[in-house]
Amino acid sequence: MRCLVTGGAGFIGSNLALSLEGEREDEVIVVDDFSVGHFKNLTGFGGDIISCGVQDSCWWDKAGKVDIVFHQAAITDTTVEDQKKMMMVNVDGFRSVLDFAVKYGVKKIVYASSAAVYGNGNCPMHEEQKLLPENIYGFSKVVMDNLAKSFSARHKDFVVVGLRYFNVYGPGEYHKGAAASMIYQLYMQIKSGKRPRIFKFGEQMRDFVYVKDVVRANLNAADAGKSCVVNVASGRPGNFNRVIECLNSAMGTNLEPEYFDNPYSFYQNKTHADLRKAKTFINYRPQWSLEEGIRDYVNLLEGKKQAQANV
Ligand SMILES: NC(=O)c1ccc[n+]([C@@H]2O[C@H](COP(=O)([O-])OP(=O)(O)OC[C@H]3O[C@@H](n4cnc5c(N)ncnc54)[C@H](O)[C@@H]3O)[C@@H](O)[C@H]2O)c1
Repeated sequence: MRCLVTGGAGFIGSNLALSLEGEREDEVIVVDDFSVGHFKNLTGFGGDIISCGVQDSCWWDKAGKVDIVFHQAAITDTTVEDQKKMMMVNVDGFRSVLDFAVKYGVKKIVYASSAAVYGNGNCPMHEEQKLLPENIYGFSKVVMDNLAKSFSARHKDFVVVGLRYFNVYGPGEYHKGAAASMIYQLYMQIKSGKRPRIFKFGEQMRDFVYVKDVVRANLNAADAGKSCVVNVASGRPGNFNRVIECLNSAMGTNLEPEYFDNPYSFYQNKTHADLRKAKTFINYRPQWSLEEGIRDYVNLLEGKKQAQANV
């Protein structure tokens, strides 16, 4: 297969591009403007890379006919408040992917949505509940989901699958800085001998999902028979105290958390995905528990098997 991965120099996109190439021996083309993603994530990648803004059409003819698009490119820093920029990159970027798909007859599109569409909604979060995004990032993902729905209604021969990722962690995220997962931030603190700092009293729950499960969800979504939007998570949320326990165990350390006051007026106390729809529509079954995922990640970081271990 010839696959296009937008945002392929980023965290999830690079893991996906390398898996498509390595596991499935697909021909993979990456589109990324390198605004955030890092070339080190693509060490060993053998495909073509088009450096271009996804919202423009400059990449269309260079990419040409492909069998599927995995659309990951986006502004992913949820603290960005520039509404114009967020909507241009995230929503117009997706519009550009859909227009490209029509022009080149690409009938399969898998795109990254987000649990940010649910805001502080009820748990477990299911795809049909009211969407209450709390920031422009979450709002842009709601608009992308709406766009996908109307596109699928107009183009019945296309399959468009939206994946609402929850809190993803794993190799290839170092370039995100403060926007990298809390698991990576806490790992770095412990690694430098500091006590891991979390909001009082570490009981906020997150549905953390290991990037290897997210890659698997994308590969499964490529075989989906009809358009849908589904959650991608572990389905087993853990709190921040538990994350620190798992990190200490994997790293052979014993550092107690240092608690501090949460300065944010808006903060999600819990995320927890309902995965029934993901099982039905894309046969998604997460393989990695929090403990096993953290252990694998720490092994990769400590073993310097991934590019980011050198940073
Ligand atoms: N990491 C998570 O926990 C998480 C959770 C929910 C949803 N998502 C979604 O998953 C996707 C991938 O996220 P990630 O964590 O890998 O983030 P990332 O920031 O590492 O990757 C995004 C990539 O897109 C590229 N990019 C940004 N703007 C671009 C543009 N205009 N044109 C072309 N490329 C552009 C960046 O350079 C980067 O390589 C995003 O759509 C994000 O919203 C991620």
